[in-house]
Amino acid sequence: MPIRSPENIKVYRERINALLDISVPILNNDSTDLNSAMRYSVINGGKRIRPLLIYTSGACFNIKKDKLDVPAVAIELLHSFSLVHDDLPSMDDDDLRRGHPTTHKKFSEATAILAADALQTLAFEVLADSKNLNNSEKVRIISLISKACGSSGMTGGQSIDLASEGKVLDKIELHKLHSMKTAALIHASIMSPFCLIEKVNNSTKKNMSDFGWALGMAFQIRDDLLDIEESTEKLGKTANSDIRNKKATWPAMFGIEESYNYCDELLTKCMRYLDIFDIEANSLRWLTNYLINRHH
Ligand code: IPE
Ligand code: IPE
Ligand code: MG
Ligand code: MG
Ligand code: MG
Repeated sequence: MPIRSPENIKVYRERINALLDISVPILNNDSTDLNSAMRYSVINGGKRIRPLLIYTSGACFNIKKDKLDVPAVAIELLHSFSLVHDDLPSMDDDDLRRGHPTTHKKFSEATAILAADALQTLAFEVLADSKNLNNSEKVRIISLISKACGSSGMTGGQSIDLASEGKVLDKIELHKLHSMKTAALIHASIMSPFCLIEKVNNSTKKNMSDFGWALGMAFQIRDDLLDIEESTEKLGKTANSDIRNKKATWPAMFGIEESYNYCDELLTKCMRYLDIFDIEANSLRWLTNYLINRHH
């Protein structure tokens, strides 16, 4: 059964899609395919989960949407860049992404690499140029998301992911891999509102940090389960890619049942972390439940 999103999630999704459309402009004088490949990699029906997490966690702290817009754009540009690289022949070697040929299949491998490079710098350009954030807010956001994206976060995790192909990892090692490659950007999305709050309550911050890591972990384990259990058509990406690549995933290391049980355990924990809020966290609660039980 598809999970229907509440109205405000739809509104947030339309908002981020419109912002992405203007953030990656159409160049009339694009003498190479670079700009077209950048747009192709972003304006293509992604679920926009990380921006939605920024808006819904921002709502928990009553932060205005226009302050969250640019962090939301930046995180989706970074995530889109990570997907273009993830699909390359030298990485997961996948042909389908978000229901369309991967960027290197549609254009060329070199163009895909360069488009992803340019998406990464565009993320920091939009943050630096934002008119809605003051300089301190910009520096705090840039610090947060650059760490989450770099060698101690997503990029480092991708490196460990490749080095772990065909290997047996224990729980601590797999936890580290999933935390870095996937949970880091999800955690940064959850934590970005704290860059916009003047007086931060440390125990609330710790609570949200623990929430972000738990949600990010469950998100990747669910992705690993979907790779095994759903069809290519439903996923919009080639099913069984992990088995083909001998990836170290939660189901491959510990079995499908244990993976489901761990996801349930993490969902219960996540909901407990959100108990500190009242109705202002309802959208985040809905999204959390959706992310851990999604079908694509
Ligand atoms: C896929 O992320 C890559 C992972 C980190 C598991 P999403 O499932 O958020 O992909 P899109 O953005 O909706 O395509
Ligand atoms: C991707 O993990 C993590 C990234 C940082 C992009 P996967 O390789 O499992 O993501 P999909 O399944 O290709 O989307
Ligand atoms: Mg991968
Ligand atoms: Mg992949
Ligand atoms: Mg996957």
